[in-house]
Parts: sequence; structure tokens; C-alpha cells
Amino acid sequence: MEKQELLNNINKVHTTALGEQRIKNNLNLNIKNVVSFCKNKIKNKDCIVYKKGKNYYAHTSGYVFTINSFSFTIITARNDKIMELTTDRLILNSFKMEDKQDVARICSNPIFSKNIPNMPVPYTIEQAESFLTMAIEKFNSKTEYPFAIRLKENNQLIGNIHLMCKFKANRAEIGCWLDENYWGKGIMTEAAIKIIDFAFNTLKLHKLIWSALSFNKGSCGVALKLGFIKECEQKEYEFVKGKYADSYSFGLINPNDKNVEKW
Ligand SMILES: CC(C)(COP(=O)(O)OP(=O)(O)OC[C@H]1O[C@@H](n2cnc3c(N)ncnc32)[C@H](O)[C@@H]1OP(=O)(O)O)[C@@H](O)C(=O)NCCC(=O)NCCS
Repeated sequence: MEKQELLNNINKVHTTALGEQRIKNNLNLNIKNVVSFCKNKIKNKDCIVYKKGKNYYAHTSGYVFTINSFSFTIITARNDKIMELTTDRLILNSFKMEDKQDVARICSNPIFSKNIPNMPVPYTIEQAESFLTMAIEKFNSKTEYPFAIRLKENNQLIGNIHLMCKFKANRAEIGCWLDENYWGKGIMTEAAIKIIDFAFNTLKLHKLIWSALSFNKGSCGVALKLGFIKECEQKEYEFVKGKYADSYSFGLINPNDKNVEKW
């Protein structure tokens, strides 16, 4: 919607002399028409646009443009730094629009819609596109961290591990899914160990939550293997395919956060 808003006003997009200089310097550009360079990037099909405060942020193929949402002035542009975490076998980084075929294929698994409340059924390419738009926007705006899980050996997308952050409470909930072809190989445990380290030592969060339906042995097993403690059991909490399911909530407190004050 915000992208459409910006595209509807694309003819008004301009910059100032200072803006032009900033864009040229930041992107190391040596071209005459900086504004049309930026406009073409914004019009790109894979460009993701979101609004924060008074600005639009447009992210596309390695670039970020900051545009005032009232005057449509391009304030600045910069190279998009790729945030990436790695483990022995995996790369954890942002999703890309090109992942839509893989996301739709992986998430069409009927086990996912049984295990994950609110998983759309059927899971179409359009569902994958709207998931990816949300995931890329949240990742870039650092409001949440939906990491794509890719194999280091060939960059294949195989899953998702999502830190749903509540920064006001210094906590996040972890959600995840993995391509069924890769289950039972310790992949989610490996990804989650890295994410927990990122959550506790980089984001400095105090607590992590892991929720799973009681019949989901895989998800409960990963949580327990990671050292999460089962804290509560909600009886007949979700209605799944015609039957009620109990839900478990597991918690893990940042061991480095000592001497915290508690009510
Ligand atoms: C849940 C899920 C992410 C687990 O990923 P995974 O990479 O296969 O998990 P791991 O191999 O790291 O397993 C870690 C531990 O969990 C337990 N576990 C995993 N799968 C299990 C299963 N099917 N049955 C019983 N225990 C299981 C085991 O204790 C395992 O440790 P071990 O191999 O040393 O015994 C994967 O099954 C999945 O994507 N499921 C569908 C989507 C989903 O349910 N997401 C979670 C929503 S809450």
C-alpha cells in the first residue's frame, strides 16, 4: 500500500542540490541524472517500501532510499548492508522476493497448517508474496527479525526462524518452520542456537518465548533441547481441523541478565 502511494506520486519525486551530492557520494555514482536512477530503482518490481515517521524507505537490490513522504524529496540513499549470521551448515539472512516459489512449496505442506495456527490453506504464491513483503519490511526496519534459513553449500532456502520482538518488554517469541526434506538433522537446533545468541547478546533481550501445540513433538523437542523451560499449558487453546488442541509455552531467560529488579 505504501509502495503504491509512492508510485502514484512518482512524478513528484525530486531532490535538492545537497540531496543529489549526498546520493552521489554515498553510492559512489558518477552519473548526470541521479533522480531518474533512484526512480527506476523504486519502480523495480522487487522494491519494498515502508513508512516510518515522516519518511518512506525504499529497499531494492542493495540500495535504500529515504524519501520525505510529504514533499517527495529524496533525502539520501545508501547501500543496504546485508545482515547475515552463519553457523557450520547454515546462513541466516533476510528473505528476498525471489524466494516466493520456495516459500509456497515448503509452506503448502499440510503438517504446517496443523502445527501452526493461522497458516493459510491453501498456501498460494500470493500468500508467499504477502509473507515475504511483511518479512522483508520487518527485517529491514529492524522491528522484528524473520530470518531465512539457507544451506551454506548451495544457498538453498530451507526454512524460517522468526524473532517476533516486543522491545518494550525486552522479550521476543520465536516462530519457525523447516522444509520437511530437512527434518531430524538438527538444523532447527543449529539455527536457533545462533538466534538465541543474537537475541541475548546483540539485541540484549531479557526473555525468549517458544510456543507449540502439545501434539507437535518436533517443536516441543527443539525447545527442550535448547534449554527452554515449560512454563505454562493452555488447555483446549486452539481449534485445529475440527478438534481442540492444548498449547504449551516455553521460556528462556538471558543468563547474562543478572540482578534484574522484579516486582
Ligand atoms: C519443528 C521443526 C522446526 C523441527 O526442526 P528439526 O530441524 O527437524 O529439529 P531438530 O532436528 O533440530 O530436532 C531437535 C530435537 O527435537 C526433537 N524432535 C525433532 N523432531 C521430532 C519429532 N518428529 N518427534 C519427536 N521429537 C522430535 C528431538 O529431541 C531432537 O533432538 P535429537 O535429534 O537430538 O533427538 C520441524 O519439524 C518443522 O518445521 N515442523 C513443521 C512446522 C512447525 O511445526 N513449526 C513449529 C511451530 S511451533
